[in-house]
Amino acid sequence: MFKDITLKNVVFTMPKKNRYNFDELITREGTDAIKWDAKFMEEYFGVGDLLPLWVADMDFRAPEVLLQALKKRVEHGIFGYTIPSESYYQAIINWFKQRHGWSIEKEWLQFAPGVVTAINVIIQTFSKPGDGVIIQEPVYYPFARTIKNNGREVLNNELLFSGGSYQIDFKDLKEKCAMPRTKLLILCSPHNPVARVWKTEELKQLGEICMENNVLVISDEIHCDITFNNYKHIPFASISLEFAKRSFTCVAPTKTFNIAGLKSSNVIIPNPTLREDFTTALTNISIASPSIFALVATETAYNSCENWLNEVLAYIWDNYCFLKDFFAINFPNCYVLPLEGTYLPWVDFRPLGIGAKELDRIIKEEAKVGLDDGAMFGESGAGFQRINIACPREILKEALNRIRDALIKRLKK
Ligand SMILES: Cc1ncc(COP(=O)(O)O)c(C=O)c1O
Repeated sequence: MFKDITLKNVVFTMPKKNRYNFDELITREGTDAIKWDAKFMEEYFGVGDLLPLWVADMDFRAPEVLLQALKKRVEHGIFGYTIPSESYYQAIINWFKQRHGWSIEKEWLQFAPGVVTAINVIIQTFSKPGDGVIIQEPVYYPFARTIKNNGREVLNNELLFSGGSYQIDFKDLKEKCAMPRTKLLILCSPHNPVARVWKTEELKQLGEICMENNVLVISDEIHCDITFNNYKHIPFASISLEFAKRSFTCVAPTKTFNIAGLKSSNVIIPNPTLREDFTTALTNISIASPSIFALVATETAYNSCENWLNEVLAYIWDNYCFLKDFFAINFPNCYVLPLEGTYLPWVDFRPLGIGAKELDRIIKEEAKVGLDDGAMFGESGAGFQRINIACPREILKEALNRIRDALIKRLKK
C-alpha cells in the first residue's frame, strides 16, 4: 500500500502523514470481536445490533510490521512454551526511557496476561477480605467489580467536577487513606473515562498522602501512550524513590497498538519484596509466563511501531475535533470534556434535561449506537456518555448522525 519507493537509485520516503489509511473500513464481523458482536451486546446492553463505539479497542488494523512479525512466527510452526528474551525486556526498557523519560530495570518487570488480571492478583496478595481499596469515580468499572469480587471494600474518593474539568478531592483522600483498613489505592493515569492526564503536582500530592498512611498504589497506566498536544504522561513511580518502592505500575502495549486480544501487559515493581510476592502469586496460578504471540507482538510494537502510533494519535485527534464541532453545531449545551489522554472522550449530556436513564435508552434503543453509559463508571457519571472515537471517521459520523436524529426527535416532543 503506502510503501517507500526507489527511483533512480534514490529511496523516496512516503510522507509520514500518508503511510497508513485509518479511513479504511474493515469489517470485524466473523472475528468474534466483543465490540461488534450483536449477541454479546444484546446480553450486555439489552439491545443488540448497535453501531459500537464502546469497549476500548480500535477499529484500525494493527501496524504492518507487527503483522509481519506475527506471520513470521506462525510460519515457524512450533508453538511450545516460551520465556521472555533479553531483547523483549530491552524493547520495554527503551520504550519507557524514550517515550516517557523513565529508566526502568529489567528485574522490575513482571509479565501478566492483562492489567485487570494483575490488579486482581495485587488485591488478593496485598490486602485481606474486609480491607478497603480506594478508587476515584467516575472510573473504569472493572476496578470496583474486582474489589467487590475479592471481598474487599470499595472506598470511593470521588473526583470533583468543577470549572469544566475533574480534580482530585485531596481532603477526602486524606480521610480515606487514614482509615486503618485502607490498604491500596488504584490510580487510573491517564484517567478513563474523564480523559485527564494527571500533572506532576497532583500525582505528588496523591502519592504523599498514600505514603504517609502506608497505602500501596496500583498505578494503572495502560493509556500512558495515548496523550495529546502538550499533555505529557508522568509515570507515578518516576516521581520519587519512595513512590517507586511502594507502587505497582501496570503498563501494556495493548491499547497503544490495538492488540488487546493478544493478552499482554507488564507490571513494573521496583521493590524486590513486593515483586517476589506478586510473582509468586502469579506463578501459583500459572499465569506468570507469556504466550508466544504476546512476546512477539510486544517486542515488535515497542521497537518498530512508534511511527504508526504518532499517526494514529493524529487521526484520533482529528476525530475528537470532528466530535467537538458536531456538538457545537447540534447540541451546544452539551459539554465535550477536554481530551488530554485516552481515545475515550467524555460528554456531559445533562444540560439537555432528558434524564440519564432516558438518555441512555434513546442512544441505544432509538439511535442504535453502543456507547458506555456514564453511570457504569459510578453514580457521579450519570448523564454522561463515553464515546470511543478510535474508529474510521465515517463510523463516527454515522453514529453521531444517528444520535442527533434520535435526540432531536425526543426534544421536539
Ligand atoms: C484503565 C484501564 N485498565 C485496564 C484495561 C483493560 O486492560 P487488560 O485488557 O489488560 O486487562 C482497560 C481497558 O479498557 C482500561 O481502560
